[in-house]
Amino acid sequence: MHRSTVELIAAKRDGAELRTEEIHGLIEALLEGRVTDYQMTAFLMAVFFRGMTDAETVALTEAMLRSGSVLDLSSIPGIKVDKHSTGGVGDKVSICLAPLVAACGVPVPMVSGRGLGHTGGTLDKLEAIPGFRTDLSSADFARIVGSVGTCMIGQTKDIAPADKRIYALRDVTATVECVPLIVASILSKKLAEGIDALVLDVKVGKGAFMKDLERARVLAKALVAVGTRAGKKVTALLTDMDAPLGVAVGNAIETREAIDVLHGNGPADLIENTLALGAEMLVMGGKAKDETEARATLKRALTSGDAARTMERMIEAQKGDPRVVDDTSRMPLASVVSEVNAERAGWVSSIDALAVGRAAVTMGAGRTRAEDAVDHGVGILLLAKPGAKVDKGQPLAKLYTRSKSADAEARVKAAFEIGDAAPATRPLVIERITS
Ligand code: URA
Repeated sequence: MHRSTVELIAAKRDGAELRTEEIHGLIEALLEGRVTDYQMTAFLMAVFFRGMTDAETVALTEAMLRSGSVLDLSSIPGIKVDKHSTGGVGDKVSICLAPLVAACGVPVPMVSGRGLGHTGGTLDKLEAIPGFRTDLSSADFARIVGSVGTCMIGQTKDIAPADKRIYALRDVTATVECVPLIVASILSKKLAEGIDALVLDVKVGKGAFMKDLERARVLAKALVAVGTRAGKKVTALLTDMDAPLGVAVGNAIETREAIDVLHGNGPADLIENTLALGAEMLVMGGKAKDETEARATLKRALTSGDAARTMERMIEAQKGDPRVVDDTSRMPLASVVSEVNAERAGWVSSIDALAVGRAAVTMGAGRTRAEDAVDHGVGILLLAKPGAKVDKGQPLAKLYTRSKSADAEARVKAAFEIGDAAPATRPLVIERITS
């Protein structure tokens, strides 16, 4: 029996399971203009309330994947591994992780996104490097992954075009926060990269998409289950995103911090996030037998300079100025500097990542609409992180802006909570989820 679009929407509305070929047909019909945007929106809202079975989520992922082309990286030797983060504030991990893992012999093809809302995007941060191009063709992408070991680009028009259409509808119809739709959206793009394995960094906390552990765990398990059913090795780490990651929030300022990590420096939480994900990638990529060996290999690549040199080669291949690796002052930094000071003495008990992310957006570092431009030079430097003891009047953060912004200063100040005692330490990696 062939069900019409209206019958499929009604079936999902009433909680029935759709067949694989019905889901494939729906996505094909959307792209061919036989299903309208308002019908698709009704379907998405039905999924939002009724959910999807694993089989339906796999079918939706595959239908969205097949709406475009899948890169063929089979001519590049080795197990190709990528990382995807669900996004947060100060999350510049991809920028240090990809060259680091590539320097250890695991090819990393990485298709990244732009910032939206309070979360930053890897492409915006990379484009702070003078000349750096993220709009490469699939052929150039494959060539650079083969020669350098890694390449970082944006979604091309051939990668999961159905996701682009559906995401635009979800964004304006309150259907973004839905696990099967998120899973299909993320995995359809990642599976199109020609990877063999994927590590997922599912962020949890105030600055994350998933604010509580239970919902983050449900998303991570679904991503691992569907990715595994699609024939890939997939592992997820649930990591803390209550406070911003590292000390820099913005674009160029975050790329500087990621380069610091490649030189063996940088803040402890950022280093730990990078090593934890990198270790998973080295084990999946067959370059280490376990986490201990993987961490030792990663640390050697940092201290030997191999990771920093790989970053230089990637930047050069992508038409950027590789001298930024040894001289990060070649990237822009806004010249109006103001400080936010502690109102009282005590311990920094928390820093609200969402509030800091929103402050950065008001300064011009982020965008509220997909078509907005970002200012690469503005940013926030946190001078005290949770657990730090501070005196009254001590600087907590520095703001780099184009003109003094009392609003941004007030937002950053309000993000800091100062208590009477040192807060309990929180582990960065909260949980590991495998198939
Ligand atoms: N990121 C994506 O790519 N898709 C979603 O649906 C949510 C986050």
